[in-house]
Amino acid sequence: MNKEFLNLGFQPLANEYLSKASPKQKKYNLKVLFNNKTKMVSISKRISSKVMFNAKYPYRSSMSRTMRKSFENLSKEIKKRFCPNLILEIGSNDGALITNFNRKNVIGVEPCKNLAKITKKKNYVTYDDYWNINLSTKIKRKYNSIDLIYSANTLTHISNLDDVFKSITNLLSKNGILIIEDPSLLECLKNNSYDQFYNEHIYLFSALSVKNLLRKYNLEIFDIKNLTTHGGSHRYYIKRTKNSEIKILSSVKKQLFKEKKYGLDKFSTYKNFSGRVMQSKFALTKILKKIKDKNKKIIGYGATAKAVTVMNYCNIDKNLISIFTDTTPEKVNNYMPGKNIKIVKYHKNILNNYNYVFLGAWNFKKEIFKKEKNFIKRGGRFITHIPKPRII
Ligand code: TMP
Repeated sequence: MNKEFLNLGFQPLANEYLSKASPKQKKYNLKVLFNNKTKMVSISKRISSKVMFNAKYPYRSSMSRTMRKSFENLSKEIKKRFCPNLILEIGSNDGALITNFNRKNVIGVEPCKNLAKITKKKNYVTYDDYWNINLSTKIKRKYNSIDLIYSANTLTHISNLDDVFKSITNLLSKNGILIIEDPSLLECLKNNSYDQFYNEHIYLFSALSVKNLLRKYNLEIFDIKNLTTHGGSHRYYIKRTKNSEIKILSSVKKQLFKEKKYGLDKFSTYKNFSGRVMQSKFALTKILKKIKDKNKKIIGYGATAKAVTVMNYCNIDKNLISIFTDTTPEKVNNYMPGKNIKIVKYHKNILNNYNYVFLGAWNFKKEIFKKEKNFIKRGGRFITHIPKPRII
């Protein structure tokens, strides 16, 4: 049974950037639940994929060096470790992964038509459709089976996981490999990064919940890698249970042990997290107000979906953070959902007029600090809420 442990108040759709400021943007109550039986963490309100992932979807995987490098490294590993003839990526976005492969060996699936267009233009086979049994069957008719299916930051966005996994097993070859990569629930709780919760993140996976989920489809995890992307993610390597040629590595046991030790299987752990989230809200707004009282200017760096959760939960508007900057063309000149803070195009002198930078893209802290050396040199300071609100 699902039990609520966190209420993040009224939130707009996190990626619904408006071209005109509007106080009337639709909001919904964002509540987060824990299922004691399956150990799955999910949000209560499910928005239709068609509403969330449309032809104006603004998130581009290739916008950061960190992500491009991560996908490039993975493509090398896939070629060396699994030597697949045919790879399919569910949620291929703007091609950050698939463009590392030969066009003959890879298929993209991307329902956001603006993104699918990018890889189609580069002559990569791309199905601009939602991942479901109809599409899986259509692809099966043409290609028969797929040796390696990969999906990053996508399966947690699809409400009907039963259909997701049936569609995968329908297409995966007998000895095929499935690799999924998503933000880590354990890291989210450790970092107090409640901003991992927004309408698109219907689920936040743990090894415990993935293990339980896969059983029904005769799939099992045989390796887990911990990644630093998206504030801490796990890459789960999955095979058919019947495939005994692949050994289950100790990384799986290790991760399950860590999660149980932290208490990811107990509701009380989530209730404690919820208390820390509330403290985080008060501490962050206190820091921002203190800075504003001194007439200093704050800019938000990275108009992320995560920052949308923070702005709306903590009730932060342009009186506290004057403006956001972002490199994504689809976000520039629009407004932060729900709080109407303007997003301006990034350029290398953008921070010159500001004293403080709020790290909306805290998960790219390293990359940003490196890029903004001059701001730091002239005494500029960063504000982050991860793991606790503070000035760096
Ligand atoms: P994400 O945290 O959801 O991956 O989104 C990162 C956002 O931050 C994306 O909109 C691009 C933006 N960004 C910048 O504007 N400048 C940067 O240097 C980096 C690393 C990201």
